[in-house]
Amino acid sequence: MSTLPTTQRAVALPAKRAPLIEITIPVQPPAAGEVVVHVQWTASSPLDLHRSDGGLLIFEYPSLQGSGGAAGTVVAIGSGGDLKGLQVGDHVSVFAFHGGKEANQQEYITIPAYLASKIPEGIPLQAAVTVPVNLVTVFHSVTADLELELPWPIPPHWQPKAANEPILVWGASSSVGIFAIQVLRHWGYTNVLTVSSRQHHQYLKSLGATVCFDYRKPNVVDNILDYLKDRDEPKAPYILDCIGSLKGTLEPLAKIAQRGSRVAVMLPVIIKDATEDEEPEYEMDVSKCLPGKWAEGAIVRGVRTHFYLQNEFFKERLQPEILPALLAQGVVKPNNQRVVEGATLVERAQNALNLLRSKAVSGERLVYRVSEE
Ligand SMILES: NC(=O)c1ccc[n+]([C@@H]2O[C@H](COP(=O)([O-])OP(=O)(O)OC[C@H]3O[C@@H](n4cnc5c(N)ncnc54)[C@H](OP(=O)(O)O)[C@@H]3O)[C@@H](O)[C@H]2O)c1
Repeated sequence: MSTLPTTQRAVALPAKRAPLIEITIPVQPPAAGEVVVHVQWTASSPLDLHRSDGGLLIFEYPSLQGSGGAAGTVVAIGSGGDLKGLQVGDHVSVFAFHGGKEANQQEYITIPAYLASKIPEGIPLQAAVTVPVNLVTVFHSVTADLELELPWPIPPHWQPKAANEPILVWGASSSVGIFAIQVLRHWGYTNVLTVSSRQHHQYLKSLGATVCFDYRKPNVVDNILDYLKDRDEPKAPYILDCIGSLKGTLEPLAKIAQRGSRVAVMLPVIIKDATEDEEPEYEMDVSKCLPGKWAEGAIVRGVRTHFYLQNEFFKERLQPEILPALLAQGVVKPNNQRVVEGATLVERAQNALNLLRSKAVSGERLVYRVSEE
């Protein structure tokens, strides 16, 4: 085991909507079943913005930042426990979300080994860091909220019961949406209807989208209903809302869902976006959104991926085994990356937040270096 430094730099949020700061905190040695990862790259996720501008899921300040995943090198392992075969020197990507010693924007994170995935040969850390958070989100939302099957390993000649049912992925050019198309197609769901801006349609088709709709067109809902007009009800039995915006996605989806439709909405529901001048507004209880507007019998659920560990199978296998296999086989490709520059870690983290706030992210993931070397 290499010698760990005793302290490290980390990015923290001192108060809601305050500029980020750098603080020095201890490096936590690993307990049994834990590994320490020297973080080289992190990705910036919209949750970073929901936290910094909206105070979402923050219980005290200063709050350590970083919810978009991490990638780096294992530098220490605990004595005993299930280390999932990880060894010092392994390159891993990580979806760790309990804050504190797991917060992604610090130089050394200490995490249970089941939250790490060994990165297959040939995939740079910068690319691998785009994968874990939203790939896990897709497995969780598709199985727990849409209740579609994703068996692992896939049995020979397996075909899902809903193989030909339309699955509407709204916000398909988001990181969540791009992974959703890849996963659904690989598991044999053949009828994936997607909604994004027009510029991404060709790419989404190359991933296996059956048809693409442009959400910026005023008649997008009519276009979708027209496409589904020959089907029995519910015409859209499965809907994955990868955005969770009251006006941008829930309002149109409430016109599409019918009795029996299952709708999985990424939380938080964004009632009002964060801007330079104004605080955002979020709602974590999807049943409070658009009361009376949903068809009776439509099943609308809010997605909370942080609960995926309640599924024991996914806890043990999703990050340690399934994710590396899908990457190695090329089933899942990392998101396109936009590297965020800045002289220091805290500057890069702040620049990433500013890009998220100005809605500059489209069909890509913001990534930046954590440790300088
Ligand atoms: N609760 C959970 O478990 C969970 C887990 C993961 C993510 N989330 C949430 O899910 C949301 C998406 O996350 P992400 O990382 O995938 O985001 P992202 O990649 O940063 O999202 C950017 C994309 O959103 C698209 N978009 C924005 N408004 C849209 C609309 N009204 N209709 C269709 N597309 C729209 C844009 O599409 P165009 O470029 O095509 O315009 C852009 O490509 C975030 O709010 C995040 O916090 C929640």
